[in-house]
Amino acid sequence: MTLAQQHWTRPHLLTLEELTSDEISAVLDTARALKEVSTRSIKKVPALRGKVVVNLFFEDSTRTRTSFRLAAQRMSADVVDFTVSTSSVSKGETLADTARNIEAMGVDAIVIRHRSSGTPEVLSRQVSCSVINAGDGSHEHPTQGLLDVFTIQESLRNSGRQISDIHVAIVGDIIHSRVARSNLWALTKLGAKVTLVGPSTMCPKSMEKLGVAVSHDLDSVLPHVNVVNMLRVQFERLTSAAFPSLREYHHLFGLTEARLAHCKPDILVLHPGPMNRGLEISSAVADGPKSAILQQVANGLAVRMAVLYLCVGAAAAQY
Ligand code: CP
Repeated sequence: MTLAQQHWTRPHLLTLEELTSDEISAVLDTARALKEVSTRSIKKVPALRGKVVVNLFFEDSTRTRTSFRLAAQRMSADVVDFTVSTSSVSKGETLADTARNIEAMGVDAIVIRHRSSGTPEVLSRQVSCSVINAGDGSHEHPTQGLLDVFTIQESLRNSGRQISDIHVAIVGDIIHSRVARSNLWALTKLGAKVTLVGPSTMCPKSMEKLGVAVSHDLDSVLPHVNVVNMLRVQFERLTSAAFPSLREYHHLFGLTEARLAHCKPDILVLHPGPMNRGLEISSAVADGPKSAILQQVANGLAVRMAVLYLCVGAAAAQY
């Protein structure tokens, strides 16, 4: 058993809020070891040979779904992409029945994305295989939080600094963002200073009770941070106008080259994707030298390999 596995005994990954800093580090350390697999000419290890992973996505996804699929395949697991729109869900079958029927086929892990917060946790009480949260409503997106922290750690590698030495701004539509919540749990547990920034309709002062600072003035925060994580405005979750116009949002909260000029020279720019180019981030910044957006995607694969390895391994030991 590796040191990371000694710190990880959970069959499920449901939230980062419930993890200890040792558990978060166990995933990050395992991901660091597994990242090298994707650089080999034969990109496969036998760690999950004979295991079956099902992707059960009730919401659209480009990055997370593909990344979990590739991660499972690189660990030699069999993968099934369950397509909700062509399944018996369209005939009214419940989530619990759907999951139990899938599990009856000998599944070791269900990776679930759902529009309702808490669905993965409910599911974990109804099945005996591993359940991994791939994003639940506005609640959490644990593997996104982990891959963001992993990407920050990589950027610090030659600087002698660690996560506890840095200040991160998470900017934009905080209230609807599962990415913001998972990021703030991972970052604060590892000792980083976090400031949430956005209009008061999207970034309420009440979020200070989560152990972070809150600001509505991006320009006053940017010069002080080491990392800026720009969030997508989630138009599909807005129930009323949260800001007067797109032009005003971009003017006050968009990350542009002009704003970047006031940041620290080694600022790291993150965005979980998908991006609204020209709204929360300009194309020049998204595609520019400070951006680690595609590194985030690449690192997501290593992080998801680690999560599958630890959860399915832990579950195998438990049952
Ligand atoms: N970051 C993220 O979750 O992207 P997808 O919605 O494409 O999976």
